[in-house]
Amino acid sequence: MATERLEELRRRKEKIRAGGGEKRIEKQHAKGKLTARERINLLFDEGSFVEIDAHMKHRCVNFGMEKVDAPGEGVVTGYGKVHGKLVYAYAQDFTVVGGSLGEMHAKKIVKTQELSLKMGAPIVGLNDSGGARIQEAVDALSGYGQIFYNNTIASGVVPQISAIMGPCAGGAVYSPALTDFIFMVDKTSQMFITGPEVVKSVTGEEVTSEELGGATTHNTKSGVAHVKASDDEECLGEIRRLLSFLPSNNMEGAPQIAIEDDLNRMLPEMEGFVPENANKPYDMKDIITAIADEGDFYEVQPTYAMNMITGFIRINGASVGVIANQPKVLAGCLDIDASDKAGRFIRTCDCFNIPVLNLVDVPGFLPGKGQEHGGIIRHGAKMLYAYSEATVPKVTLIVRKSYGGAYLAMCSKDLGADMVLAWPSAEIAVMGPQGAANIIFRKEIKESDDPQRTREEKIQQYSEEFATPYKAAERGFVDDVIEPAATRARLVDAFDMLASKRETRPAKKHGNFPV
Ligand code: HXC
Repeated sequence: MATERLEELRRRKEKIRAGGGEKRIEKQHAKGKLTARERINLLFDEGSFVEIDAHMKHRCVNFGMEKVDAPGEGVVTGYGKVHGKLVYAYAQDFTVVGGSLGEMHAKKIVKTQELSLKMGAPIVGLNDSGGARIQEAVDALSGYGQIFYNNTIASGVVPQISAIMGPCAGGAVYSPALTDFIFMVDKTSQMFITGPEVVKSVTGEEVTSEELGGATTHNTKSGVAHVKASDDEECLGEIRRLLSFLPSNNMEGAPQIAIEDDLNRMLPEMEGFVPENANKPYDMKDIITAIADEGDFYEVQPTYAMNMITGFIRINGASVGVIANQPKVLAGCLDIDASDKAGRFIRTCDCFNIPVLNLVDVPGFLPGKGQEHGGIIRHGAKMLYAYSEATVPKVTLIVRKSYGGAYLAMCSKDLGADMVLAWPSAEIAVMGPQGAANIIFRKEIKESDDPQRTREEKIQQYSEEFATPYKAAERGFVDDVIEPAATRARLVDAFDMLASKRETRPAKKHGNFPV
């Protein structure tokens, strides 16, 4: 009897593990996609994954569903270790009823979310699904609703990471959208509210699903996704890497790992790195990798709003979020997309206790009708709000230009920067010398015998007086002007000094973030 029972258990488990069967697995592989279980194995430390609710079954009897055996209910759920730390995950199994989400499929995800929240551990969702299981009607919709609700409740408590590894359409996109990071796999993933056929019937537009909602679209145009991976394996490896920068929950500090890099490493290559000519671009990423422990920079949204750089580095082994202007793109101007990108990233760092480093070379906000009508006022406000609201250690390094409202928006002293450092090449003023001279010396220039020469003289005079870090340092808005070569050592010191920072704010239900 005991043996029979054991055999039954083994038989059941084997059937569940086989998912939708050989043919559907072959089809999945032929599309260049791994199965849910193969993905889970790559995500977790070897052999650490423990599956739960494998025996769960749907109870739908509509449209022939009573005859459909759906092993594992089309989703694999459970927990395991990533870099030795507890992580929860669910992986939708497209080989089982197209990974479609019904009542019990949702219940499995909801339980995993609740465990992740209770245990204070990150959750990773691997999405590959035909969406709401059509036969289950409102039960399926209710399932999504519960998942969205849990996504929101867990927001800012545990890191939530979504990977889109197949279709993700309709309202289903809103679970990933409510999480902290979205990964997409090139060519095999799509996210859209309405697919190409609906688009064509409603608007007449002809568009492929790749163009409408593929990985490139969401990583370059919409800003919905944060990372584009070339295949499933790379995607899961990148998720593991991202997790190494994040704490398990909002009660833990940023993770700290052992590093080999010299804390006092000088950066002689940074002497004279910034061009004298303020209009000449350079790659801010060279400064970021020079500062970072072992030159390791994990960039977030590398191909969206490229005038703004966001990502993680480690300094003295601890995670630091970097927000930096990129002079190579739009001269590093702040615009709508850059503000959204930075605002969101600053809040992600703040809710997970990751200190921020702001590298500034910003000529101002991008002018134009498109920006004004698109709401740059509302979008730019997100940066001011996010920086002011953030209570993590905030360190700002002004590398070159820092003008006007953009000086404030990049986390000036007045927005709560704990330490503001500047290179001697820094220019901190209301506006650039040309614009400033044209306004304040307008009369002298107009009345001069040689207006051009007078203009140049006045620009020179303004530059000498104001286009430096020293006026700001005289007022204490800059804590110190440092030698570029000493930047890493000074930042190691600054973050070390700020490690015990505690800042409280007035009690409130929540602020009214300018969304
Ligand atoms: C039930 C589904 C399903 C679904 C796929 N299947 N989607 N079953 N409900 N939503 C089943 C198919 O019948 C098929 O079963 C198997 O999964 C694989 O699907 P195929 O069509 O053979 O795969 P493929 O050719 O790769 O096409 C994938 C697809 C297509 C593009 C995703 O299946 C599709 O269009 N599905 C419907 C998508 C959809 O409209 N979903 C509702 C979206 S609205 P067999 O037995 O043949 O293997 C939504 C609202 C959420 O999700 C709202 C939340 C608030």
